[in-house]
Amino acid sequence: MKRLLVLALFLIFSGLETSAQVSDAQIEKKIDVLLKKMALKEKIGQMNQLSADAMETNFKVIQQGMAGSVLSITNPEIANKAQKIAIEQTRLGIPLIFGRDVIHGFKTIFPIPLGQAASFDPDLVEKAARVAAIEASETGIRWTFAPMIDIARDPRWGRIAESCGEDPYLTSVLGVAMIKGFQGKDLSNPTSIAACAKHFAGYGAAEGGRDYNTTNITERQFRNTYLVPFENAVKKADLATIMTAFNANDGIPSSCNEFLLKQVLRKEWNFKGFVVSDWASITEMVDHGFCSDNKEAAQKAINAGVDMEMVSGTYVAYIESLLQEKKITIETINEEVRNILRVKFKLGLFENPYVKGNLKEVFYKEEHLKLAEKIAERSIVLLKNKDAVLPLQQPKTIAVFGPLADAPHEQMGTWVFDGEKNHTMTPIKALQEQYGKDINIIYEPIVKYSRDKDSTDFAKARKIAKQADFVLLFLGEESILSGEAHSLSDLNLQGVQSELLETLVKSKTPIVTIILAGRPLTIQKDVEQSNAVLYAWHPGTMGGSAIANILFGKANPSGKLPVTFPKNVGQIPMYYNHLNTGRPANGSELSLNNIPIEASQTSLGNKSYYLDSGNDPLFPFGFGLSYTTFEYGKIKLSKTVLKKDEVLEISFTLKNTGKYGGSEIVQLYVRDLAASIALPVKELKNFQKIDLKPKEEKQVKFILPIADLAFYGIDMKKKVESGKFDLWIGTNSAEGEKVLFEVQ
Ligand code: BGC
Repeated sequence: MKRLLVLALFLIFSGLETSAQVSDAQIEKKIDVLLKKMALKEKIGQMNQLSADAMETNFKVIQQGMAGSVLSITNPEIANKAQKIAIEQTRLGIPLIFGRDVIHGFKTIFPIPLGQAASFDPDLVEKAARVAAIEASETGIRWTFAPMIDIARDPRWGRIAESCGEDPYLTSVLGVAMIKGFQGKDLSNPTSIAACAKHFAGYGAAEGGRDYNTTNITERQFRNTYLVPFENAVKKADLATIMTAFNANDGIPSSCNEFLLKQVLRKEWNFKGFVVSDWASITEMVDHGFCSDNKEAAQKAINAGVDMEMVSGTYVAYIESLLQEKKITIETINEEVRNILRVKFKLGLFENPYVKGNLKEVFYKEEHLKLAEKIAERSIVLLKNKDAVLPLQQPKTIAVFGPLADAPHEQMGTWVFDGEKNHTMTPIKALQEQYGKDINIIYEPIVKYSRDKDSTDFAKARKIAKQADFVLLFLGEESILSGEAHSLSDLNLQGVQSELLETLVKSKTPIVTIILAGRPLTIQKDVEQSNAVLYAWHPGTMGGSAIANILFGKANPSGKLPVTFPKNVGQIPMYYNHLNTGRPANGSELSLNNIPIEASQTSLGNKSYYLDSGNDPLFPFGFGLSYTTFEYGKIKLSKTVLKKDEVLEISFTLKNTGKYGGSEIVQLYVRDLAASIALPVKELKNFQKIDLKPKEEKQVKFILPIADLAFYGIDMKKKVESGKFDLWIGTNSAEGEKVLFEVQ
């Protein structure tokens, strides 16, 4: 032991490098050699990504050395053919890197990222990404355009489905987990795929939740909120690539934001991977009104540090003339090509360019499906369970209705190019397979798809419901209603789904509503009318079994909302970690209905709130019930006055007071009460999943380094400021005991 320590110290102080450093240095040397050999055209080729739409033309482009990457080839034979051309028919034989949107699974589809986030389980999330990488890499894909770690606080924005929700800490933890899963322990392993954190940056703050829309994020908001997951991705997960966003922030399109790309990403974070533009986001700078033509767009993107261009071809068209005109320099081009080659070397593509393509051996493997079922179970959030209607107790007859009970395509969710619906386990299929022998299951969709407006069969539904012990009503959204370019201004259930629920209430049979959707929907009335509500997101291939397991108590729900559920669209933006106003509401405000007629001018108590819907959400961030109940003991702090380099220990007892075994996600929130800038009313700083048998109790301990309270204050430097802090431990962001501590 002692000898090892001496050796380690010797290595550190003698300046000798560790093996990882040596290989990094070796890679740089290899790049030096290669760059010297490369003609300008070959360099430009590396910076160009083609789309797989027209492979016959692509083969020719590749042969001319004018492509460094192709996006969306999923057939290993085509991948190998393209690669063979790059390796054998170009002068320097530089391998291609094949990219694809493998967002929440490749063949085996896991819950949408927002659903995975509800599991609050980085371990499972990492495993899911690993499986996605194993399945995708077998086709030749060595690069995924994931994870999407945009902070998403507006459920109108369809891409909230792809995000981990509204919180920078949760998004950071899960983003890091996804990257580790995709990239594996060693990028050169053939099952490792380079991750691409996207979209850099601020895309989720699109005005009005309308996709691609403008954002107005200040530097401080960027640093304290929107950039946090990206910084973690670079520093904690050795992120290989990053994608620029579509939005223009404060008038500057992301694909030429030098502050973000050069100052923050490269200089401050020392990012060593490469930057790719989003699909045509370079040419779109003309539409933004930021560049007069595509040539100027190429110039600005290159100078800002966008290393590879996704599909829009301006680098190929203009780099040579931009160089001649001295609008860009060869040093910049060399640096950008170096960034791309570095990732290719790290992936081992030079040594191992081809793929075996044993697809049958890896797609939909039993263990992959099991994992998909597990994570779907963990992602389901129990929103209501009046009179403990769930888990279902030995029903004789159940009536199953709704457009999402048997919608194999829809339940996979957005961004599914490769998963096949014939592999999907729908809820009705799972229920029939697992319980069909013992229980009389009557299934009638009544409403055929989520937007269906046909209520012809409502009377029939009521009649069936009357004969049943329980109604299971599967409502929600089709997959195409969320995701890219699918923003909505009305978040109520589409079509006549709410009307179906309303009509079923008349049957007096208890109703369990299960919602499968890509975003928080405004379901206040639907929740009121249901006896129990499960939010299952778009749960993926094995969603049906996961839901059946939860309904019958084989699994106890433990999911928590990664995003606030507003009561109505007018409350948006609504997120738990907002700033206070000078006049925060305290619940005692007058509401619309108790304002007297002909009331004279009054400011109604001078509080910041909505007259018609108050200030509370329908469900707060972090909310989720269980079939059991948990009792939180009193919080003990190791100290109440701390120095900035100290660590606070927080402990308490958590007891399962109900009759089912279950898992509770305990959440730790902090508020800095007064600082050089106003800070959020609560910020999640940590969480843990605690498993408890009935009546069991455990001591739970959190370690909070005071350094974790640092933020960018008035001087734009990250540091902890002295002062008082509130700390909560709770079951969600709106509950929990509060204690005070001080930092000196
Ligand atoms: C999306 C990206 C995606 C890319 C490639 C774009 O439209 O914004 O997230 O990775 O397409 O498919």
